[in-house]
Amino acid sequence: MDVMRWAVAGVFGLVAGTIVSATAQAAPPVPSDAEVAARVEAVLGRMSIEEKIGQLTQLAGGLFPDAPKPADVIRKGGAGSVLWLNDRKEFNALQKIAVEESPSKIPLLFGLDVIHGYRTIFPVPLAMASSWDPAVAERAQTVAAKEARAAGILWTFGPMLDIARDARWGRIVEGAGEDPFLGAAMAAAQVRGFQGPYLGAPDHVVACAKHFAGYGAADGGRDYDPSYLPETRLRNVYFPPFQAAVKAGVGTFMSAYMDLNDVPASGNRFLLHDVLRGEWGFQGFVVSDAFAVRSLVTQGFARDGRDAAFRALHAGVDMDMASNTYADHLAGLVKDGTLQLADIEAAVRPILAIKVRMGLFEQPYTDESKFAQVVALPEHRKEALLAAQRSMVLLRNERRLLPLAKTLGKVAVIGPLADSQEATEGSWIVFDHTPAAVTVVAGIRAKLPGAKIEYAPGPEIQRDIASPFAQSTKPAQTPEQAKAAFRKAVATARNADVVVMALGETADMAGEAASRASLDLPGRQEELLEAVAALGKPVVLVLLNGRPLSIGWAAEHVPAILEAWEPGSEGGHAIADILFGDVNPGGKLPVTIARKGANEPLYYARNLTHSPESGERYTSRYWDGPTTPLYPFGFGLSYTTFSIANLKVAAPQVKVGSPVAVTAEVTNTGSVAGDEVVQLYIHQKAGSDSRPMRELKGFERITLKPGEKKTVAFTLGPDELGYWSTQAGKRIQEAEAFDVWVGADSFATLHADFAVAR
Ligand code: BGC
Repeated sequence: MDVMRWAVAGVFGLVAGTIVSATAQAAPPVPSDAEVAARVEAVLGRMSIEEKIGQLTQLAGGLFPDAPKPADVIRKGGAGSVLWLNDRKEFNALQKIAVEESPSKIPLLFGLDVIHGYRTIFPVPLAMASSWDPAVAERAQTVAAKEARAAGILWTFGPMLDIARDARWGRIVEGAGEDPFLGAAMAAAQVRGFQGPYLGAPDHVVACAKHFAGYGAADGGRDYDPSYLPETRLRNVYFPPFQAAVKAGVGTFMSAYMDLNDVPASGNRFLLHDVLRGEWGFQGFVVSDAFAVRSLVTQGFARDGRDAAFRALHAGVDMDMASNTYADHLAGLVKDGTLQLADIEAAVRPILAIKVRMGLFEQPYTDESKFAQVVALPEHRKEALLAAQRSMVLLRNERRLLPLAKTLGKVAVIGPLADSQEATEGSWIVFDHTPAAVTVVAGIRAKLPGAKIEYAPGPEIQRDIASPFAQSTKPAQTPEQAKAAFRKAVATARNADVVVMALGETADMAGEAASRASLDLPGRQEELLEAVAALGKPVVLVLLNGRPLSIGWAAEHVPAILEAWEPGSEGGHAIADILFGDVNPGGKLPVTIARKGANEPLYYARNLTHSPESGERYTSRYWDGPTTPLYPFGFGLSYTTFSIANLKVAAPQVKVGSPVAVTAEVTNTGSVAGDEVVQLYIHQKAGSDSRPMRELKGFERITLKPGEKKTVAFTLGPDELGYWSTQAGKRIQEAEAFDVWVGADSFATLHADFAVAR
């Protein structure tokens, strides 16, 4: 049965409860800003105050049975958006109520967290950042958007742009790591991927930059704890990815949960009004994090729900996610004159504008017939494989143990994550998704069909305190069962020519409400690793994890270590491709790996101290162990070697405001083709403020054949050389001397000087 896809809402209908289409038609023309504004005013003009407040209300569909029934609220025009639903039929049914039965017939915006894939799962965002290839993230989110849109989702709560410098914080997995420059590149790429060339592009969704701002700096790495960030830190480190998202045209922002300098982010007018709209000119709308408006009371900020509604709206939160506080209190606040109708309308306008831009007034429904075909597209799996291959970081490869020969007869694959589809897909998967990843065991079996692949999981691992999102009710292994599993794993390894150990963290060990104090391998994994290594067999450690882990013993005793992160649907294939040499790894760490959790927060862009790392007694270090990273930011090995030489700065001196060109020559000095991520770091030697001893200001991932040489060029302009100064109270660029390094990680030694002059 054919139904016109782009028919107008009134004509378009549900056909036997299913929306179907076989005719591909051109997308409607992109409306101009003036057209959007005129249409918004026309809709606004026919709305009652209750409906206006309804647009500011996002309903918790599905998840919370005691929440108001979406259909009833929508029929009265009491909701602008619904989240936590993932059912095309239900979307269409609710949309039908909105556009046919509600007073002003305004379509709903269905939102859901699509973080690293909908059906085809990509590496977690921290892994994608390890590719140092923004195109990987852009293509991944393009696929995610296409599948999500086919599933009826119009708006994703991503990308997550929180800089994270403390690996104890579980949500480090959702972002691009510790660095603002890399973070900004990944932010813009993800926005482009989700939204396409313009807001409302077919097969795309609206993106949401979250969590604004400073969430990753939670005290002690404990999720939700307050952040204390002086303005210099906020502006130089935590804001850049968000500003990059605004520049890339992101449609929405999400306000964070935690107190920022004692003012909750969801009641923070400095963040949401002064900076986001005032300075950056953001035109979209802000949604709170889930229940965050109501939580203003819990956090000891607002007196009661009414006060919370006032403070959040006044701060600049347009839409209340799930807490119903706006629905309960905004009308009363307007009635008694605390708020003006104009305040409500100012929040409604950008929400309606997004609905107009998304074409929802013309085409509110999802074509249910497309879904099966879209999620089965073979190119989606291909993109997921490529993303996984490019995301993995080779941390160690003594005596060139890797790549392994494909002629191996017996391989033991050991570890609790080796055959876990959940751990391979990683954290933050969409609701109702059935894990379907290629595991490490499956990947190796597929690579070596003729070999004997034996698998033993060893003892299970689990959180000491269960995840609030836990679904499994499976009873834990008894100590006896764990002992037997341990013995079996060692015996299996004893029989093999090579042992691949897949260790790390389960998917629920990182993510929201998943902070931990230690960064050690959980459970008995370290013990198992040491017992297997003692057998004297060649051992390859494959890490599956959502946060950096302190693997100090392995870093000295296990000859080969591959950081695979949580690599997604094609993870096992990508791992096998790398282990057996079909793919040469080229990923680099987007985070510092600390020797232990107690060293966190640990990041490379620290300031020099009065007694820099000189080996003297009065240095800024602990006396009970090295403070240096186990692996530095930007680090990653390859099966080939590179030399980086001939660093040239175009001029020894440039004028403030002018660009300076920096070049270096990179040569593949090994015998196989490979990728190097060439990184440029600067240091401003003096100024109004002390500046970090190193800051990433350029990078490029290049592929070179053996013997091939390439010149990599970077430009340093005011964006790279300026900074927000505490003393000046604004962003400045100073006439000062600079160091510049170009190399393969943040310890790069190839150095030059230049100066900026008036
Ligand atoms: C998380 C957000 C997420 C929201 C909606 C919250 O608990 O902090 O990142 O987008 O839920 O699922």
